[in-house]
Amino acid sequence: MKERLQKLISRSGLMSRRKAEEAIRQGQVTVDGRPAQLGESADPEREEIRVAGEPISFSSPVRTLMLNKPTGYICSMKDPQGRRVVSDLLPDEFGRLYPVGRLDYNTEGLLLLTNDGALAQHLTHPRHHVPKTYLVKVRGYLGLPGQKKLESGVRLDDGLTAPAKISNLRRSGRNCWFELTLREGRNRQVRRMCEAVGLPVVRLKRVALGGLSLGELESGTCRLLTEGELVDLKKISGL
Ligand code: URA
Repeated sequence: MKERLQKLISRSGLMSRRKAEEAIRQGQVTVDGRPAQLGESADPEREEIRVAGEPISFSSPVRTLMLNKPTGYICSMKDPQGRRVVSDLLPDEFGRLYPVGRLDYNTEGLLLLTNDGALAQHLTHPRHHVPKTYLVKVRGYLGLPGQKKLESGVRLDDGLTAPAKISNLRRSGRNCWFELTLREGRNRQVRRMCEAVGLPVVRLKRVALGGLSLGELESGTCRLLTEGELVDLKKISGL
């Protein structure tokens, strides 16, 4: 498939899109041996693209990063309905990375993206029970009976939920906030659990996953995981 040269080059991980444009302008980029023009597209499966004489390669290094997903984005690489997708928020030079699991369109917070298929599979496999913590704001107040239900298991239309943990419960006017830690990941699980105890969710943000926490990462930005975080993540996911 044809793609703009500067995009292809940055997707290969060699340099940013802007630097690739500069390289094209400076005549360092060739397509099948002839100097490329800015704005030109090429098909890397049919044409040989070189930068400063070196062919570009798409066997990109294994990368895992954390994104603070804003609301209003879907966890997908492309959306047929034209909605914004999380991959729009990633710099091209990270290459193609895939979301690990999902956060709803209206959920924000910690989302991992990776090109490490084994890691993604282990993290999302129900057998590994990787804990996920959500900061939840609901309309109404979570009393002791509701808290006990959420913690011991709520009956949803796809069965009883596994034990969960509630912490940092606090009231704020007509709403309340708490943190909910789950070890399973069913579709819209937090929203459905809260609805089952009569509390509609008004805001939902994932703040931790495995041993990782979102920390001060700004909404809409991402960062690569550190070596230490990767080691811990692999351990917790059973790899
Ligand atoms: N639970 C939900 O209800 N939504 C999410 O996005 C994640 C967990």
